[in-house]
Amino acid sequence: MQHNKVLILDFGSQYTQLIARRVRELNIYCEIHPFNKIPSDSDSFKAVILSGSPNSVRGEAVLHPELEGIRGKKPMLAVCYGAQYLAHFSGGEVAESNTREYGRANLSYIKTDEPFFENIHEGSQVWMSHSDTIKQLPTGGVLLASTNDVENAAYKIEGEETYAIQFHPEVYHSTDGYQLLNNFLVKIAAVEQDWTPQSFVEETVEGLQEQLGDDKVVLGLSGGVDSSVAAMLLHKAIGKNLYCIFVNNGLLRKNEFEDVLTQYEGMGLNVKGVDASARFLDALKGLSDPELKRKAIGRVFIEVFDDEAHLIQDVKWLAQGTIYPDVIESVSATGGPSATIKSHHNVGGLPDFMKLKVVEPLKALFKDEVRRVGASMNMDKHLLGRHPFPGPGLAIRILGDLTEEKVRILQEVDAIFINNLRAWNLYDKVWQAGAMLLPVNSVGVMGDERTYEKCVALRAVESTDGMTADWVNLPYEFLQKTSNEIINKVKGVNRVVYDISSKPPATIEWE
Ligand code: XMP
Repeated sequence: MQHNKVLILDFGSQYTQLIARRVRELNIYCEIHPFNKIPSDSDSFKAVILSGSPNSVRGEAVLHPELEGIRGKKPMLAVCYGAQYLAHFSGGEVAESNTREYGRANLSYIKTDEPFFENIHEGSQVWMSHSDTIKQLPTGGVLLASTNDVENAAYKIEGEETYAIQFHPEVYHSTDGYQLLNNFLVKIAAVEQDWTPQSFVEETVEGLQEQLGDDKVVLGLSGGVDSSVAAMLLHKAIGKNLYCIFVNNGLLRKNEFEDVLTQYEGMGLNVKGVDASARFLDALKGLSDPELKRKAIGRVFIEVFDDEAHLIQDVKWLAQGTIYPDVIESVSATGGPSATIKSHHNVGGLPDFMKLKVVEPLKALFKDEVRRVGASMNMDKHLLGRHPFPGPGLAIRILGDLTEEKVRILQEVDAIFINNLRAWNLYDKVWQAGAMLLPVNSVGVMGDERTYEKCVALRAVESTDGMTADWVNLPYEFLQKTSNEIINKVKGVNRVVYDISSKPPATIEWE
């Protein structure tokens, strides 16, 4: 790839990935690297951004980047910790802040003749999150902006294309953050906006053709966004040499296996649907511990996939839908080399398909980019907009042991909930939704009869990555209608509750 690219040096901030996503939204390619592992080809980057950090530039745990080859030679934007670092170690001063500097603030002063602040005006809302403050600018520092509480909210270094800001332009609440990144990257650093979904598709298809030649590739489809988009890219590159396997574990949503398989076939994919429901249910018999259920499902999946992969002659590659957040090396709070690299121990014990060479066409993309790439290949928007769904499926939404009957009940309940979310235009406003079948029977009355039946919990959350989540404030009328429909239509359920717990301390799934 010959794209213009931007280097983001990570000091461990929770917002670093958000910076990268904002830069990518500007159609500019960027990479995140740990602050202490500057890539050897740093010359090929057009600009550098220093992230924030949970650490302080004062005291013991200072994170020291080696900026010698970069500082003053390339346009640089230092955010929060980055801004404090440049100040503290270049003739300025950083001290503990007297006032709280978290959350909303407004720029009360802007040096208006600066391209850095083009189209941004006094009063603009910015997001602060820091406990240290810059008391004195570094040598050559020129004040660019202030808020009521923070005098040195933005500065530049005279004679360099180095800019520093105390606030976070990457978060949604900094209303002109996108404009500011645009000003820095496009106007000041002259980075070309050449990273588009179309260019990604063209280059990736070409690269895959070169890499794979006439080799055969096997890929496990899950019905989710990542594996589907990866399959489509590979299909464009190598056509029938891509062998897709879509396994029905019997724990999918109602009609999902048939519907999604038909959809995959309609996309022209060389896909084989394997109904292994009975094998999975058999392996789950008598298991009620969530981790044992997960393990059993994982083991059977590998067995089924391995059996199927063996039926393909001379397969050389395993394709995976790995995305960028899975491969970014994380920075530990102490600044040590904390590379989270996944390794396969015990290689001899791995199933045969896992010994194949691995191809990962999405490993440079964030989730929202995967969707944009899928859309640019005209993939169905329902498929691209689907909620995440866990690999073990309904097994971890049926608390305790599983039976076919319980799976059927939950599939019916889940289908009513999800269909209603779509009908009320709420589906796309929710990050993930589903129903849980509780191991609780309670008394009810239907007509003149006493019932003693199951209780289900509905769960709908908003989130960006599943790490934290909050419950969605669904309209009472929606809940009322959905609850009525479930109790009237699904035999065996006489009570519906709505889960109003956030994560943390709860989790999204109940098991
Ligand atoms: P929790 O319940 O941990 O879920 O808050 C966070 C996200 O991860 C999904 N999840 C799983 N996905 N295998 C998966 O593939 C699993 O065992 C699993 N457990 C949870 C969950 O659906 C949510 O999106």
